[in-house]
Amino acid sequence: MFNLILFGPPGSGKGTQSENIIAAFGLQHLSTGNLLRNEIANQTILGLKAKTLMDAGQLVPDEVVIGMVDNFMNAHPTAKGFLFDGFPRTTAQCIALDALLQARNNEINIVLALEVSEEELVKRLLGRGATSGRSDDTNETIIRARIKEYQDKTTAVATYYAQFDKVVNIQGEGSVAQIYADLKKEIETRLA
Ligand code: AP5
Repeated sequence: MFNLILFGPPGSGKGTQSENIIAAFGLQHLSTGNLLRNEIANQTILGLKAKTLMDAGQLVPDEVVIGMVDNFMNAHPTAKGFLFDGFPRTTAQCIALDALLQARNNEINIVLALEVSEEELVKRLLGRGATSGRSDDTNETIIRARIKEYQDKTTAVATYYAQFDKVVNIQGEGSVAQIYADLKKEIETRLA
C-alpha cells in the first residue's frame, strides 16, 4: 500500500490536487471534510453536531473524525492506498492514524505540504464561496478563523511527521498543472 497525506491550510488546493493524484495513482480519496458534509446532507446526529463547529470555522472533536476514518478504511479493504485530505489535523489524530495503519501493517509513506500565503487563501476561498454554497466560505471572518485553527492546532501535524523525515514542502501558488507536476514527481520518487 502507498499512503499519502496531502497537507496544507484551508484553500491550499488539497481537494483540487487530490482529484489528479487519485486518478493517476489509483489511491482511495479520504477527505474528512467531504465525509462530514455528507453527514450534514443526510441530517445525521453527527452531522448536526459537526455543522455548528464547521460553520464557525472550528475543528470537529478528534474522536468523531477518527471514528469516521476507521469506518471508511474498513469499508475499503482492497484499497491500493489512501490519500488523506484534511486529516490528520491535530497531533492526537496523527497518533490515531498511525495506530489505525499499524493495525493493518501499514504506515504513512509521505506528507506533501502545500505552502500558500494567507492572503491568497482568503482570496481563493471567498472566490469559491460565491458559487460553492459552502457556508464556511462566504464570510471572511470565518475564513480567517479556519486559518487560525490551522495555525494553532494543525501545523503540529507537519512537526509530528517531520520527526520521521516524511514531510516534503511544495510551493502551492502557481498553476494547478505546475503544482500537480511537483507533487507527482515527489510521489514517483517515493514509489521508485
Ligand atoms: P475541509 O473540507 O477539509 O476544508 P479545508 O481544509 O478548509 O479545505 P478546503 O476544502 O476549503 O480547501 P482545499 O485545500 O481542499 O482547497 P481546494 O482544492 O478546495 O474541512 C472543512 C471543515 O470540516 C473544517 O473547518 C473542520 O470544521 C471540519 N473538519 C474536516 N476535517 C477535520 C478533521 N480532520 N478534524 C477536525 N475537523 C475537521 O481549493 C480552494 C479553492 O482554490 C477552489 O476554488 C480552487 O478552485 C482554488 N484553487 C485551487 N488550486 C488553485 C491554484 N493553484 N490557483 C488558484 N486557485 C486555486
